[in-house]
Amino acid sequence: FSRSDSSLLSMERTPVHAYTISALLLALLALLFHTLLQLGNSWHRYYVNCQRLRCFPEPPRRNWLLGHLGMVGNTEEGMQFVDELVGRYGHSCLWWFGPWLPILRLFHPEAVKPVLLESAAIAPKDYTFYGFLKPWLGDGLLLSNGAKWVRHRRMLTPAFHFDILKPYVKIFNQSTDIMHAKWLRLVASGSTSLDMFEQVSLMTLDSLQKCVFSYNSNCQETSSDYIAAILELSSLVVRRQHRLLLHWDFLYHLTPDGWRFQRACNTVHRFTADVVQRRHQALNRLGREAWLKSKQGKTVDFIDILLLAKDEDGQDLSEEDIAAEADTFMFEGHDTTASGLSWVLYNLACHPEYQKRCHGFSNCSMPFSTMCIKESLRLHPPVTAVSRRCTEDIKLPDGRVLPKGNICLISIYGTHHNPAVWPEPQVSLVTLFNPLNSKNKPPLAFMPFSAGPRNCIGQNFAMAEMKVVLALTLLRFTVRLDESRPVRRKPELILRSENGLWLHLEPLGPSCESRLPAPRS
Ligand code: HEM
Repeated sequence: FSRSDSSLLSMERTPVHAYTISALLLALLALLFHTLLQLGNSWHRYYVNCQRLRCFPEPPRRNWLLGHLGMVGNTEEGMQFVDELVGRYGHSCLWWFGPWLPILRLFHPEAVKPVLLESAAIAPKDYTFYGFLKPWLGDGLLLSNGAKWVRHRRMLTPAFHFDILKPYVKIFNQSTDIMHAKWLRLVASGSTSLDMFEQVSLMTLDSLQKCVFSYNSNCQETSSDYIAAILELSSLVVRRQHRLLLHWDFLYHLTPDGWRFQRACNTVHRFTADVVQRRHQALNRLGREAWLKSKQGKTVDFIDILLLAKDEDGQDLSEEDIAAEADTFMFEGHDTTASGLSWVLYNLACHPEYQKRCHGFSNCSMPFSTMCIKESLRLHPPVTAVSRRCTEDIKLPDGRVLPKGNICLISIYGTHHNPAVWPEPQVSLVTLFNPLNSKNKPPLAFMPFSAGPRNCIGQNFAMAEMKVVLALTLLRFTVRLDESRPVRRKPELILRSENGLWLHLEPLGPSCESRLPAPRS
């Protein structure tokens, strides 16, 4: 040994070194103990939770590891499986995503009501199914929670008042006219069968862009980067949901889908920010009074209303907040309404007798076509489920408790198809929505727009648009099923049909054609 080696060896035996090693060992032991304690706690919490969940029936699992994972696919068969579950369990059942994550599936108004009507603080939204929308929609109403959501919901509610919505009816008419003029041209050129989802989505996007931004992109006739970006974002979010590995942000941003998502987000955000900034600058330049005067005789759009909105302390919304809300309306308003409209046209194609009756008046306060829209929203709810997290125990009317910490999947589709609530759930019975017949139904037997504090803020807008589009469509066309393209339901962010929803269109004579606009170049 050299001198330095021997001095090193001698250092090993110094008290300082011994203390260091002992301290390290102690720290390691403490860490181990802490980890074991935490594991023990988690195990105990898991065990207690399992015990508390035992009062909910559980369908047989695939195996202990997967639980029920993958048993309900996003397919026609998956929807039929939900029908079976609802038929067998009636009220609710327990579902396991792997060995650790229990989900309570609720499909009876009595199970659903206490959760949906609970305050948004006790039953906030769960983001398991919405998280991928965040980079696009930011902190808009759909995705925000807590104090921010409360403030924004209060400020935005007046934007959906009937008086504000009235002028939009003209916009719905115009957008529908453009769609019908296109249909007439396509039918004349030999394409009598059209994919309703594609056609109607473009029309609802056109309407929304005019109602939200007062912007006419002519997207039904020519391609628009902004509208193409929204359609792309919607389909990318769905694709990501199906690819478990890409749920991880880091990986997703390295894939071509991730790049496309980012590019489309940039396009949408650029458009929105540009409109909001320009409008804000005009408001600041002119001042509130002169600016309001400049709007007289014009349609006040959502951006105007959001710019003028003030909270109780007189505070405005920031430009960033307004942009997030506008992006949210564009997303939440187009696909849902397009789904609602496509399915009502499909249901009327299945029932020509109802289609004929839509032209006549019903013998009650509600027009027959509105009853058809409601029955179609029952049979084919555009949003098939919503989820909530219980931050406190929630008691059910039968005495059972939804334990704190669990996620509830509120099945709108399941409730609408529950034989305990609807005698023949799969049969289309429009007259059930005659107010005389629906008196004894529990309030949440029908809830296409969800219910409670986080229900759909845009439901009046959506119903108004669907009524206008349906009335004009049935005035001008007969819709028939395209037997060569069978319809298979596909629940994604909204309820679609695999490979589109194709219907034959028959124009109802030349009188309607003369009232439609010529195509714009
Ligand atoms: C047939 C058409 C529509 C259906 C079926 C529908 C359905 C729903 C449902 C079920 C929810 C609750 C989501 C949840 O709890 O997770 C919701 C929320 C929402 N909807 Fe709609 N919607 C429709 C149209 C619209 C339209 C046209 C707009 C806006 C222009 C809109 C804006 C919103 C917003 C902002 C929320 C979030 C509300 C909040 O959390 O405070 N919806 N919608």
